[in-house]
Amino acid sequence: MLVAEQQEDSLAITPFRDDAPLDISLANVREVFPITRRRAYLNNASIAPASTPVMSAMQHFMSDVRDNGRNHYPRWCDYAETAIKARVGAMIGAKQSEIAFVKNTTEGLVAVANGLQWRKGDNVLLPDIEYPSNVYCWMKLAKLGVEIRWIKAKNGRILLEDIAALMDSRTRLLSLSAVQFSSGFKQDLAAVSELCMARKVLLNLDAIQWVGNQALNLADVHVDFMSFGGHKWLLAPIGTGIFYCNEKSIDLLDPPSVGYHTVDRGEAHLDYNLEYRPGAARFEEALANFPGIWGLDAAVRMHLAVTPIAAQERISSIVTYAAESLQSQGWRIISPRSHPNETSGLLSFAKDNLDAERAEKDLSAAGVDLAVRAGALRISPSFYNNEDDIDRMMAALNGY
Ligand SMILES: Cc1ncc(COP(=O)(O)O)c(C=O)c1O
Repeated sequence: MLVAEQQEDSLAITPFRDDAPLDISLANVREVFPITRRRAYLNNASIAPASTPVMSAMQHFMSDVRDNGRNHYPRWCDYAETAIKARVGAMIGAKQSEIAFVKNTTEGLVAVANGLQWRKGDNVLLPDIEYPSNVYCWMKLAKLGVEIRWIKAKNGRILLEDIAALMDSRTRLLSLSAVQFSSGFKQDLAAVSELCMARKVLLNLDAIQWVGNQALNLADVHVDFMSFGGHKWLLAPIGTGIFYCNEKSIDLLDPPSVGYHTVDRGEAHLDYNLEYRPGAARFEEALANFPGIWGLDAAVRMHLAVTPIAAQERISSIVTYAAESLQSQGWRIISPRSHPNETSGLLSFAKDNLDAERAEKDLSAAGVDLAVRAGALRISPSFYNNEDDIDRMMAALNGY
């Protein structure tokens, strides 16, 4: 054994990586979410509860820092850049070089808004029901002479013909949620992507309500940029997220924040040369949130073990069960459900004269967690939920 290797081994009291296969399937996944023993947690579209594999991966990383300080730093960087990004890529059909770690969805959206070279008179298309993360970064461009054209939602749906009607020769970009946070409307990504390509308009997705809820294969659908935080359907820690930048579109963005990680100079700190590193890693300007990224990796491995298609089917069957149960008790379903391709894991429902805030509090006291959006109640079951959770919610709703 080489001397350097011996020294490294003496440091490795705690291995920094954990590649052991996760023995998780739909049959046993509930066991790794301790919250399921106490509550019917139906609020994954807000902040998902932590699972034991995520907790243990973060603990694993921090134990290495405890035992070894920065000694494994180059190996952390390499592992995050290769193994972890490869797994994220496998989940969404992207290359690892197209993936950057970010702290949340908003950071990725802002990188696109502030990274593109705008000309006065350009316009951006936005649905008028977007979460504010996908609004303020575009509003800020008004001072550069960029116009927002609002796509008016119809009953929570964003129609392709309404998008097309707003496009003209100055339309640079369409930015929209792949799944809408309030109505749960699921966009037909293939159709939107085709429209954008035909009209030479860039497509930017807020995918935080999609990834982990619906399966996605970016090899089949052209998307220029996409951002999603980890803390909802991905079941990853707060403060983690992914910015996807299509390799064909990366040179359209000038990284809005630059630092020592934007370039490829290694430890040559005084060798200043602002030449961007290849790939989306140029958007990670400095030291990343490795404990969070380790947790995100565990969550991604869980999704890969369950498989995104099986997760989507499971979520869909729980939501269908909930919709039928609710309708049989006189509840009105607000989320679009007339077309199966428009439905997602988010389901909003209401009744006439419903005091949604009060209902949410009452349900919480009964151990059922959901959210209030636009005066309606909204549930968002993940693949670890089950029909018992819905039955518990229905029992708690009795009397409303
Ligand atoms: C559609 C959508 N986009 C963005 C966000 C905010 O995400 P982040 O905190 O990761 O920026 C939310 C949070 O509810 C959301 O629903």
